[in-house]
Amino acid sequence: MVTHFFVNGKKIKLNVSPKKRLLDILRDDLGLTGTKEGCGKGECGACTVLMDEKRVNSCLIPALQLENKQIVTVEGIKDWSVYKSIERTYIENGAVQCGFCISGFVMSTLSLLKNHSTPVTTDQIKKSMGGNLCRCTGYSRIIKAIQELSNNEKVIQKINKDWRNEFSR
Ligand code: FES
Ligand code: FES
Repeated sequence: MVTHFFVNGKKIKLNVSPKKRLLDILRDDLGLTGTKEGCGKGECGACTVLMDEKRVNSCLIPALQLENKQIVTVEGIKDWSVYKSIERTYIENGAVQCGFCISGFVMSTLSLLKNHSTPVTTDQIKKSMGGNLCRCTGYSRIIKAIQELSNNEKVIQKINKDWRNEFSR
């Protein structure tokens, strides 16, 4: 089948099997290897991307569902004005060790903090990040980084602005 969709603002036209996973399309067809494969069955969050403003596990999305969808990967986020703040805060809090899970956590962080006007609580972060697994850090440093980001009004403003710009193209 031929499908048309957008990845990081770029129009994509692809002839693929309807069952091919978005994760494989991103990594193999488009060379976007920042999105990782962990479990391959929707349990680890390493493959998290944004699709039409929702975070999804790209290992669970078949090509069949992609027509006209807007996909954003971690490579696209690198152009967002908030990216450096997120990268710095994660690193300064020691929230990155091997880094395998981090692109998934970053996508989930953006999804959580978008439209958040007050700092998020530990419980909210834990609940929201329940679908993202990390084998290295023990989570407390990641939670601290996300809390620090949520306490920074400028960061929240940037996320909302970047988000609007991305999804209103
Ligand atoms: S690889 Fe998709 S959730 Fe684990
Ligand atoms: S930093 Fe290694 S799996 Fe999370």
